[in-house]
Amino acid sequence: MRELSIVPNGAMLVRDGRLHAVGPREVVERKVTAATAVVDAGGRIILPGFVDAHTHAVFAGNRANEFEQRIEGATYNEIAAQGGGIRATVRRTREAGEAEILDAGRRYREWFWRGGTTTIEAKSGYGLSLDAELKMLRVIRQLGYVATFLGAHEVPDEYRGNRAGYVDLLIREMLPPARDLAGFCDVFCEPAVFPVEESRRILQEAARLGFGLRVHADQFANDGGARLAAELGAVTADHLEYTDDEGLRALAGAGVQPVLLPGSVFSLGGSRYPAARRMIELGLALVLATDFNPGSSPTASMPMILSLACSQMRLTPAEAITASTINAACSLRLGGEVGSLEAGKRADFVIQDCDDYRELPYFFGREPAHAVYIGGSCVYERRRDA
Ligand code: NIG
Ligand code: FE
Repeated sequence: MRELSIVPNGAMLVRDGRLHAVGPREVVERKVTAATAVVDAGGRIILPGFVDAHTHAVFAGNRANEFEQRIEGATYNEIAAQGGGIRATVRRTREAGEAEILDAGRRYREWFWRGGTTTIEAKSGYGLSLDAELKMLRVIRQLGYVATFLGAHEVPDEYRGNRAGYVDLLIREMLPPARDLAGFCDVFCEPAVFPVEESRRILQEAARLGFGLRVHADQFANDGGARLAAELGAVTADHLEYTDDEGLRALAGAGVQPVLLPGSVFSLGGSRYPAARRMIELGLALVLATDFNPGSSPTASMPMILSLACSQMRLTPAEAITASTINAACSLRLGGEVGSLEAGKRADFVIQDCDDYRELPYFFGREPAHAVYIGGSCVYERRRDA
């Protein structure tokens, strides 16, 4: 993870939205013709676009009110138990029409682009009824995101006290149609939400239908979520703040990729970050993601996440870049398509306004992207005066 392949004085040739040649400038320049449009990066570094492999980026409204309540002493779980939290966003998202949710989604997509993120995974999970979940998945796809079905994000208001009834509905009526719109299925596996036994039932059924599995595991308690992810051969286990060493070893044994979300620890005012160094020691292919959502992690900024990963979890800048590009791409099964600058891959890249990659996490709270390209087209360019 520390070995970045850096090409000093490099260049790239893009053709039909793909990288056609990548290498030393004098080699690539030989392929330039009169018809080639030349973009001068001005000596800045070029990186693959970030791949954000864990977000909840489609929702209506926000929860700035709960942010204030937490500052005044309420915990995330207390607010949830009182009917706020995820359920507050569910009520808001159910009411909203598809166009309103899409508009909000477009606004946040700009934020991702400004941060240099070019591939975004997004989960449903603020609908929690068949219609509202499918509405979310349609919006996620319209935004061009990798879709994950998260019907098991919370027990909705009308099923309080009847979690088993909701799990039945999810398995019988929601999973099969969701499969047409989403390649992955996720569960919020947590004692107070979906305990391991129920999570297992849902995920086993999802696997049977052909979903790839992702699991919100051990975020607030060590409930065996990581071991469950390993047992089921999940693609990723996400969060892992409370996972014990046995759980980490299980992930390593099963080749499950850990997705670490330091933005949620930071925003909730916590101090328990996942054991990233131990995971790397065990050979796990770490992924970093924003977890962008209206509750625990209201940031779409991957540069901010890199800063937190370095300062709070002691990743080196190079490790943080690997975790947020190629490792993240592999966790979405897109490792052959995005996540690095190699001939044949999609031309998703960022001209970063710095000349040393270590500046990215070092200057924190800054969005360093100078220009962002997806499939060879510029989707964001910094204004001259910014
Ligand atoms: O990953 N933990 C569950 N889901 C999100 C929070 C979603 C919300 O609060 O709206 C998370 O932190
Ligand atoms: Fe999440």
